[in-house]
This record gives sequence, C-alpha cells and structure tokens, in this order.
Amino acid sequence: MHIVPIASGKGGVGKTLVSANVAIALAQAGKQVVLADLDLGGSNLHLVLGMTSGAPSIGGFLGKKKIDFGNLLQDTGVPNLRFIAGDAEIPGLANLNASQKNMLIRRLGEIEADYLVLDLGAGTSQNILDFFLMSGQGIIVTAPTPTATVNAYLFLKNAVFRLLQRSVNKKSAGGKYIDGLFRDRSSLQRIYIPDIVRELDQRDPDAGARYREAVRRFHPRLIMNMIDDPKDAETVTRLRRSAHQYLDLDLLHLGIIYRDSLQDTALQARLPILRYKPQSVLSQAIYRIAEKVDSLAGSESDGFLDLEAVNDSFDAAGQEAEQDFESKLNYIEELLNTGALSTGDLVETIKSQHHEIAQLKRQNALYKSKLVAAVQQGFRV
Ligand SMILES: Nc1ncnc2c1ncn2[C@@H]1O[C@H](COP(=O)(O)OP(=O)(O)O)[C@@H](O)[C@H]1O
Ligand SMILES: [Mg+2]
Repeated sequence: MHIVPIASGKGGVGKTLVSANVAIALAQAGKQVVLADLDLGGSNLHLVLGMTSGAPSIGGFLGKKKIDFGNLLQDTGVPNLRFIAGDAEIPGLANLNASQKNMLIRRLGEIEADYLVLDLGAGTSQNILDFFLMSGQGIIVTAPTPTATVNAYLFLKNAVFRLLQRSVNKKSAGGKYIDGLFRDRSSLQRIYIPDIVRELDQRDPDAGARYREAVRRFHPRLIMNMIDDPKDAETVTRLRRSAHQYLDLDLLHLGIIYRDSLQDTALQARLPILRYKPQSVLSQAIYRIAEKVDSLAGSESDGFLDLEAVNDSFDAAGQEAEQDFESKLNYIEELLNTGALSTGDLVETIKSQHHEIAQLKRQNALYKSKLVAAVQQGFRV
C-alpha cells in the first residue's frame, strides 16, 4: 500500500480539496483507495465529499467507545473509494498521546488498499509530523503567498528535525547533541543540516548512518495551489532553493493548481469538483497530479531520487502554469461565444475589480501618508 499524507504549514491552502479529489481520481483510475480525515478537531473532509457526519469516526474510536477499527471504513458512493471520518468534536491531533498515535499509525498501516490518502491538519506538532513521516512520499500543499511559502519551509525543517530526533537514542552522545540543539532555540533559527549531520557523524556514527538512511527515503512532494497568474508559479523557486541549501532536501514538484471560483459552487452543491465539473481546468489539474502520484509510486524502488526527474518536475509545473492560464482564458472566451456569459457580465466583473483596485489604492495612499507623518515625527524627536 502506498501511503500519501497531505500536509501544509499553514491552514486554508487546499489540503482537504487536494486529498478528496486526488483520492477520487486514483479510485476512478481503478485503484483501491482509502481516504482518512486526520484533521482531528477541524474535520471537514466529509463535507467536501458530500457525506453526512455521524458515522463512526476516529474520534469515537479513540474515545474508547468500543468501536472496531474496521467499522470506521465507510463506502463513499465513488467505486473503489472508502472513507474514514475524523472528528470535529475532539481536540486536535496534537493532543493524542504517544500510545494513541502509535496505535492509530499501526491500524492505518494494516489497511488493505492500493492507496491510503491522509488529510492532515495544519501545523508542525510532533504527531502531525509522525503521520507525515509514515511515508517518504508525503505531499506538502502550499500557496504563492509569502506566509504560505515560509510555513511550507518550516514544515519541512521540522520534518527533517523529527527524522534526526528519531535517528538517535536518547541517552547516546548523538541523542544528547540533538537534544541540546532543541533546547537552544536560538541555534534552531540558523539551521544548516549538512553541518549538523557532519557533527552527528563524528559524535555518534551509528545515529548519523541511521539518519542518512531515513532521509534517503524521504522525498516530499510539492503542490502549489491557488495561483492566479503563471508568474505565481515561480514563487516555488525560493522554497526549492532553501530546502536544497539548508535542509539538503530535493523536492519533487507535482504541479500547480489555479484558484477557481467553480470550487465555491461545487462546495455549495456538496460535490467534489471532480464530480461537479470533471472538464474544468481545476479538475484537469488534479487528474494530472493524481497521474503523477501514481506513476511515481510505480517507479519508486530503492528510495533513490533521480535528479533529472526533480528538474523535469519543476520545468513541467512551469509549463503547466502557462498552459492552464491559456485554457482558462479560452474557457471565458467560449462562455462569451456560446452566450453563457454575456459581454455585460464580463464588463460588470471588470468594473467591480477596477472599483476594488481603486479602493486599495486609496487605502495605500492613506497608509503612506500616515507612515510619512510618523517618520517625520520620529526625525524631529
Ligand atoms: N484552487 C482553488 N480554487 C478555489 N478555491 C479553493 C482552491 N483550493 C482550495 N479552495 C478553497 O479554499 C478553502 C480552503 O481549502 P481547504 O482544502 O479546506 O484547505 P485546508 O484543508 O488546507 O485547510 C476551501 O473553501 C476550498 O474550497
Ligand atoms: Mg483541511
């Protein structure tokens, strides 16, 4: 079984949308898929799938209600796709104790399927990192805003640290060294993993070897969601470079997804976008990603990552950003030609956007004048 955990540093970047729809795409391709909602405390995957709540959930299972784990698996109405509900009532995944977490990881690992897709909560708690590290092929969803990109980097950094932590024995020289790094918060800010691994190798060669073996199998993938413009796709470059330079990690790019207002209508109709509008640019982007997930799973052998494949994946994502932008423009043109969208609608939309821009400009000018006044006052003091 291939485990595909889906995480992000920041919430609201599209993890749940990607989890639900990639799982559906894999199921439609004939794979046996189980989709689990592990965003305990914030579960909403069932809503995206259009399912009702109330079925046995992970929350209930952990709450000692004597639910058999096997009973958590529900049919979804999509052939080949089963679902495990989370729980919005119980406090988040971060609050599970170690034995609950380990038991859940074991039970999930025993499921019989081709793919297990895990929709995780946002953040970098140890539990979330451990679910992410159930596989070396986890996906990080991010958006082109600076906070989302920085948070994606911090998530990766925390994951690498978790791998380091898991490679050492607490009482050994290596354990003490890693522990010391954690205690000294300021040193964590200026992290350069190659130096740390070198140091670990000297103090505790066995731990160093264990870390290198673990990280060799760790190839997180990236999805850049909610872009508006082909240029937004380039924001990934910094993330890629920092991960390579500071964390010694080479990311694979699974591709970009444009922001699409169709998603809001799909959500209102309580249908996942793949079922609401399979031909839309948004759905097609997800099918493309699911195909990459599946073909990478097939080619995955000894855990070695082909550097050429890494470069190709970034080139492909850049090209796809251009192609999808054109498809979106063509789609609008088509709507205009078929009369589904009147020229009047379009003019209205553009007008209201102009209005918004004018407002933002006014706000900006106001802030600027305030700033200038504040600075001048500061000079006088
Ligand atoms: N590409 C997209 N286009 C339009 N809306 C999107 C897109 N991706 C996500 N959304 C919307 O953004 C919100 C947050 O997405 P969600 O998948 O719940 O994020 P997360 O699980 O990371 O918190 C949801 O309302 C979702 O429908
Ligand atoms: Mg979510």
